[in-house]
Amino acid sequence: MAILARRCGACEGERGAVCNHGTGRDEGGEALLESGQMKSMISSSPSAAFRLAGESSGDRATAVAAVPLLDLRRQYASLREEVLAAITRVCDSQGFILGPEVEALEREIAALTGAVAAVGCASGTEALWLALVAAGVKPGDAVVTTAFSFFASASSIVRAGATPILVDVEPGTLNLDAELVRKRMAEKRPANLRAIMPVHLYGQCANMDALKEVAEEFGAVMVEDAAQAIGAKWRERGAGAMGATAAFSFYPTKNLSAYGDAGMVTTMQPEMAEHMRRLRNHGSPRRYYHDEFGWNGRMDAIQAAVLRVKLRYIEEWNRARQRHAATYDRKFAEAGLAGASSSGEVGAEARRKPVRLPERSPDATHVFHQYVIRAERRDELRKFLTDRKIGTEVYYPLPLHLQPVFAYLGLREGDLPVAERAAKEVLALPMFPELTEDEIGFVVASVAEFYS
Ligand SMILES: Cc1ncc(COP(=O)(O)O)c(C=O)c1O
Repeated sequence: MAILARRCGACEGERGAVCNHGTGRDEGGEALLESGQMKSMISSSPSAAFRLAGESSGDRATAVAAVPLLDLRRQYASLREEVLAAITRVCDSQGFILGPEVEALEREIAALTGAVAAVGCASGTEALWLALVAAGVKPGDAVVTTAFSFFASASSIVRAGATPILVDVEPGTLNLDAELVRKRMAEKRPANLRAIMPVHLYGQCANMDALKEVAEEFGAVMVEDAAQAIGAKWRERGAGAMGATAAFSFYPTKNLSAYGDAGMVTTMQPEMAEHMRRLRNHGSPRRYYHDEFGWNGRMDAIQAAVLRVKLRYIEEWNRARQRHAATYDRKFAEAGLAGASSSGEVGAEARRKPVRLPERSPDATHVFHQYVIRAERRDELRKFLTDRKIGTEVYYPLPLHLQPVFAYLGLREGDLPVAERAAKEVLALPMFPELTEDEIGFVVASVAEFYS
């Protein structure tokens, strides 16, 4: 049986199969994925992953005994030969950093997103820093971003020497609220506002039309945090092709995931791409000559080779995620737990139900990096599901403005109420392309049992 809530060998408290201590081992000595951050619960046993999927059972309804939040082993099983061949190709070449694999991936990602150029780098966090600096963010500047995101969305601004201006989110999509950005600028406009950086949270683009208007109004450049949104669109424009620059993460839990850390920056401006190529390599236009301070932010060839294999499937995988989201919606509605809210505003009746489904903007093509519900008594529900061996995660339990490290920004509890409320209600349910309908049914039936 899959072990879903193991404890890390280096830390206390509940940990999934990815923990943030990088020990590579859990307390029982089982290998963990190394990570810079705790991300999710992943099925750790290959046999469990397949046995529990209900795929071969004649009695499908009783086959599901556990559902991991994410099961990378199913994907690996279907790609094993291709991935190992790609890794072997790199080993045979003995070229491990940048090189032809990274260059080919850069061209392929530019084509997928519709960007003019792409620059491979070491992680999504690195990509954010490159995107900000190439877009012109300098020490002393201010950059507007959302208060409801992963830490790197704001810490990358600090690393660029700037001050994050954290703004609240829309109550439905939980993406940066353009009207609130405008209000904040009208009330207290920072002297040196340089950029606005929306995050396409959970795989759904922020309202790029409204945000672009605000950016133009206040003379700010647009930078996208598209870490969770490869393949997503706003109207006909791809995530990564709407800002001056955009950052993607290929962290192992992402829709397009590497076998370690990796990231990519896309841009609509070739000169920014050239700047980022220098910045990711110690600010060096040619070997051992340095015009500015860069860093080692390069991408490994093995990661690029793995990503190129997976890139062939990303559109199919994103479609599978969209189908799973629709199945969740339908099953939740059938169970009477949630009003159908697959687009637009949620009605009053839906608000009285214990579960609110993820809201979609009609202009967004959501790629469901996560399927996140809003749940009454969220923590109790989560414990109930954990006891049933159903993986869940809270993205994110504490908004950025309440993180101790950002106390210097002067924001307090109550200042950004939508993000604060979301942090108490959001719950990510199992979501990955290979998830089965039976597994979704088991999750929804378990939620129904909790509220019955
Ligand atoms: C919204 C967002 N931004 C940035 C990052 C950072 O990416 P990475 O973990 O690859 O450094 C992540 C990763 O979780 C993310 O979700």
